[in-house]
Amino acid sequence: MRLKTWPPVSFALLLALAAATAHATTPAAQLARFSAEAGRAGDAAQGQRLFTTRQGGEWSCASCHHAQPIKPGRHAATGKTIDTLAPAFNPASFTDEARVNKWFRRNCKEVLSRECSAAEKADITAWLITLKP
Ligand code: HEC
Repeated sequence: MRLKTWPPVSFALLLALAAATAHATTPAAQLARFSAEAGRAGDAAQGQRLFTTRQGGEWSCASCHHAQPIKPGRHAATGKTIDTLAPAFNPASFTDEARVNKWFRRNCKEVLSRECSAAEKADITAWLITLKP
């Protein structure tokens, strides 16, 4: 049956697509991208405030990532471990643009009931980059 060859072929294709869309990046490049979109530099103090305070909902960013996101987080609802967010403490953090976009979109909706603006993302990213061992 010819059809039998399809699943492995499409799996290989998916892998190739995933690799092509992974968009390797750096925390500094992500900060530059958000700042350019916002038309201003990220403000770390403002980012910290936004990250650690509730925005009208049940959770803040810190609810899952800690107020100092320098160690693995814990999902506020499921209890699952979450990778450390501050890039100086997790070399994989902010290295995949698609992943950064996905989680900013999802988590901002969770906390602010809307997507974060480019300025808000610049502020938070600027603050996360200042966290050093
Ligand atoms: C309900 C729990 C929860 C909340 C609240 C939350 N996050 Fe997350 N966040 C996650 C999970 C889960 C992941 C990805 C899975 C993992 O890393 O293990 C993640 C990943 C991320 C990433 C991707 C980092 C990378 O490059 O790998 C960013 C950026 C991020 N979160 C920012 C935020 C910001 C900003 C807020 C507040 C607006 C926030 N998160 C609130 C659960 C949460």
